[in-house]
Amino acid sequence: MQTRQLFHGGDYNPEQWLDRPDILEQDLELMQKARVNVVTLGVFSWALLEPEEGVFRLDWLADIIHKLYERGISTILATPSAARPAWLAHKYPEVRRVRADRVRELYNRRQNYCYTSPVYREKVRRIDQELARRFGGDPAVVLWHISNELSGECHCELCQAEFRRWLQERYGSLQALNKAWNARFWSHDYTDWEQIESPAPQGENAVQGLTLDWKRFVSSRHIDFFRFERDCVRALAPQAEFTANLMYRFHDIDYHALAKELDVVSWDSYPTWHKRGETVEETALDTAMMHDLFYSLKGKPFLLMESSPSFTNWQPVSKQKKPGIAMLSALQAVAHGSDSVCYFQWRASRGAEEKLHGAVVGHDGRTDARPFRETVQVGEALEQVAQVAASGRPKQAAILHDWSNMWALEGSSGPRNAGLGYWKELAGHYNALARAGITVDLIGQESSLEGYGLVVVPMLYLIGEEFAQRLCQFVKQGGTAVVTYWTGVVDESDLCWLGDTPHGLTRMLGLRRAEIDGMYDGEERRCSPVEGAPAALPATRASVLCEVAALDEEDPAVPLLVYDEDYFAGAPAAAVHAYGEGRAYYLASRFTPEFYESFYAEAAKQAGLAPACDQELPWGVLSSRRDGFLFLQNCTEAPVTVLGCELAGWGTGVWQETENGWEKIL
Ligand code: GAL
Repeated sequence: MQTRQLFHGGDYNPEQWLDRPDILEQDLELMQKARVNVVTLGVFSWALLEPEEGVFRLDWLADIIHKLYERGISTILATPSAARPAWLAHKYPEVRRVRADRVRELYNRRQNYCYTSPVYREKVRRIDQELARRFGGDPAVVLWHISNELSGECHCELCQAEFRRWLQERYGSLQALNKAWNARFWSHDYTDWEQIESPAPQGENAVQGLTLDWKRFVSSRHIDFFRFERDCVRALAPQAEFTANLMYRFHDIDYHALAKELDVVSWDSYPTWHKRGETVEETALDTAMMHDLFYSLKGKPFLLMESSPSFTNWQPVSKQKKPGIAMLSALQAVAHGSDSVCYFQWRASRGAEEKLHGAVVGHDGRTDARPFRETVQVGEALEQVAQVAASGRPKQAAILHDWSNMWALEGSSGPRNAGLGYWKELAGHYNALARAGITVDLIGQESSLEGYGLVVVPMLYLIGEEFAQRLCQFVKQGGTAVVTYWTGVVDESDLCWLGDTPHGLTRMLGLRRAEIDGMYDGEERRCSPVEGAPAALPATRASVLCEVAALDEEDPAVPLLVYDEDYFAGAPAAAVHAYGEGRAYYLASRFTPEFYESFYAEAAKQAGLAPACDQELPWGVLSSRRDGFLFLQNCTEAPVTVLGCELAGWGTGVWQETENGWEKIL
């Protein structure tokens, strides 16, 4: 889907207001005021669309879709499978999920259907096809939104049987499965497929290969369910395009795999602005890393499907966005590749779980309320920068973020079980690169490395042979790689690689891992730069895990930093190695943010990566590029001057590249 405009709108739940035509009328009027051009409809409408089994009522929805369209507002139409009607859950218990402890849930909440249940699929097929028949060719519907926030897992008998089938396909024989899981350990050899069950608190949880495969299976079930729904609609609406709304630091689904099935990636962003102990700049970076992940999934613009115009109601403490933050946050999404700014929700519901969640229109319905006023301002700004729509981003640096690795890393027992802080590790590298104005993609082990100057491989505990080879090739041909501690430990089955590690990378790095030592929270080891080293790095402190490397005897890396303390004092804490036309850096531990800033300033320069803005920017100003556009965002409260212009506190400037240089368009 190529947009020629930036979408502005959000989740709209008119089904909650059908007895208030005056409010529905007011919605139309206020949406136009707020420069809304798209809404998401139908996410939670099933009970109204099919009030009784097989009885479909779609007229109310058609009426709303068309009234909106007459006013220039398109619809992203959702399939309602995320929340099923009570009649369905009661009549067909198999559609209700079974938890890991094997208890079947009662009818409750949402996003808790069994994705394997043939009954559920059949019911979903019926309603999806009713929608597709009615709206499949409707010009008002610009995109289909499958279900809502696919997530969670089901352990019912249907899923167990499907899991066994999935394993049979993956391994072919029990012998191969036992080998892959090293099931001989504790005498767990399986002799019949029926003996295999999903992990459970009161059941198996020590065969880590099983746990890893279960996570892969659950992920593949969600993807299969997405595909199923998409194809139900597609069969009757061949031109339709599809998205699913993805989530922050999400665990349950391999989004690289899911993205292959989507036409457009979209995601729901709820940053914890003004969180205690975190600056606005830090929250912005945390969010930017997600935007960048979602751009990278398909290497093209995504949609910001949900965001709060003001506050949420599910964070431990839900802070209001202070004046200016709504704009900063909206334009940040666009700066990083979003072609939309959409909200959850247009109008606040009156009752139930989300009645006190922020909305564009509150219970007072006032247009002088701050969320409404700020939404109008965002709408105006989006119109001003509409030409950004559909533009791509430069390819510069990539950080490896691989779901199988994350699952295996977190599922293993090792030198530190008190939290490895995997995302914190990624953020350490990301923040330094983003602060330096480098465009960062987040890619998987199967992604192509072509076009990148720098590839960062943080804690890639599970490494595939093929990826290791491609990374070496990438460096050989002139690329720069940064490989950290706790990389290359196990294969795809979570079996430890035999021989020297990081597996497949020791020649490229000019060293091998000899030992790794766990650190308690707050425990650190001083590290200092090596005199005369080819790169000047600052002294720093190592934490979390301290890897002890032994340099290759024939073609050793050059240490840049050494540990100062403990029995491993003198061992390299950071090193660089020339390999082919390129270079490979090695980081033996987790260091301070200041260290990463100096390190990446140097590594990016060496790799020939130019910052988004060629002028030095004041601290707290983040820069990003979309092809032909430059975004500068002031993440501090004080005004700053950039490119000769004043940016207010939390202000954003957008420039377009023209024949005469940068022209300010916002
Ligand atoms: C999202 C969800 C929405 C709404 C919102 C509240 O995760 O998709 O339906 O619940 O959170 O922040």
